[in-house]
Amino acid sequence: MDEAQAKRSQLEEAQARRSQLEEAQAKRSQRRKLQAIDVAILYNVDFTDATPAGDTAYESRATVQSVAFDVEAALIADGAHTATLIPVEGDFAELRARLEAQSPACVFNLCESLGGDARLETVLPTVLDLMGLPYTGSPPPALSAALYKDRVKARLIEAGVPTPRGVLLHSADDPFDVPYPVIVKPSREDGSAGITAKSVCHDEASVRARAFDVIDAFKAPVLVEQFIDGREFNVAMLGYPQARVLPLQEIDFSALPDDRPKIVSYDAKWLTGSIDDLGTQPVIMPQLPPAIAARIRRVASDAFRAVGVRDYGRVDVRLSSNGTPYVVDVNPNCDLSPDAGFARAANSVGIDYPALMRLLVRYARSRRKEIVGTREARTATSGRDR
Ligand SMILES: Nc1ncnc2c1ncn2[C@@H]1O[C@H](COP(=O)(O)OP(=O)(O)O)[C@@H](O)[C@H]1O
Ligand SMILES: [Mg+2]
Repeated sequence: MDEAQAKRSQLEEAQARRSQLEEAQAKRSQRRKLQAIDVAILYNVDFTDATPAGDTAYESRATVQSVAFDVEAALIADGAHTATLIPVEGDFAELRARLEAQSPACVFNLCESLGGDARLETVLPTVLDLMGLPYTGSPPPALSAALYKDRVKARLIEAGVPTPRGVLLHSADDPFDVPYPVIVKPSREDGSAGITAKSVCHDEASVRARAFDVIDAFKAPVLVEQFIDGREFNVAMLGYPQARVLPLQEIDFSALPDDRPKIVSYDAKWLTGSIDDLGTQPVIMPQLPPAIAARIRRVASDAFRAVGVRDYGRVDVRLSSNGTPYVVDVNPNCDLSPDAGFARAANSVGIDYPALMRLLVRYARSRRKEIVGTREARTATSGRDR
């Protein structure tokens, strides 16, 4: 064999090895695709029915769609998951048929309202429970409790978790006996809907005026709550069956103009670049005496348990001047945007966004056995009954 021939056969061998390798790789990726975990991402699209001016919580609703896109991108990145985006319009018969046809391994539930009504957010997980489909996040009882601030309060008080004194007003003339200053909040909303500088009141006349406006705007009672003038912390909780406390985050109010109350208003949460947004900067792992930090973590995890939140959630805490952490809010479906506080807290302990999304899917899927167990139990019981 001359030198040229030898080179040619070497080249042919190398090419053959290469195509074998490519074939094996293609087979592997085909196998992975077949085994991929199929996730249906459900999200509400009711924000498209309204205009920003006509909907008091438009921005917070519209954010859900971009979160759905982020979740999809994060899940499919490693090739071990496939994801389908399913906008939920409110036609449950159609949704049910679609889910039955697709039969996903798991539902990523991002639905926070239906037809612009946050109270309907518990309907979807109820349907999923009936279908026996595992889904991410909290079950209906926790979601519906969290939507009613007075119910959350009752559960916190029952569990011995410190929460500011509060009274529910069905009408602006109802009596209340709460020391000033107070904050007037819509009782059936979240995402700081209805929270502005006017929410903090120092006398009865302004409470009555604010209560009247908020009851009128949200068609629901208001909560008049003692205003805790102190530092604010967001506590992210993650895990199933045991949730752990992620690193604390504080809201730094120092850039807020002096004439504004130190609160996280609707504009602060949703209007990027607004005065309130610029004046409420999140700080991860703030300076705190260890004993106080431990107390904050403790009340947050007690609150998480008391409300029955599952997989993930965020508890808002205000620290009074005597060092008592008060729970002001428990959020089972906190904002899951990659740049929001929850993802930031997870990232600070080495859980990046795709890993966080995979974890949430894993928690949901770990409940498959419970669901099958419940189904079998139901069938067995109905058999006995007959
Ligand atoms: N009792 C309170 N004392 C001081 N600030 C409060 C109190 N309640 C609410 N706030 C402020 O208002 C914000 C929104 O209220 P919150 O109860 O968390 O409602 P939402 O469910 O809309 O987030 C809080 O992040 C906090 O800044
Ligand atoms: Mg809150």
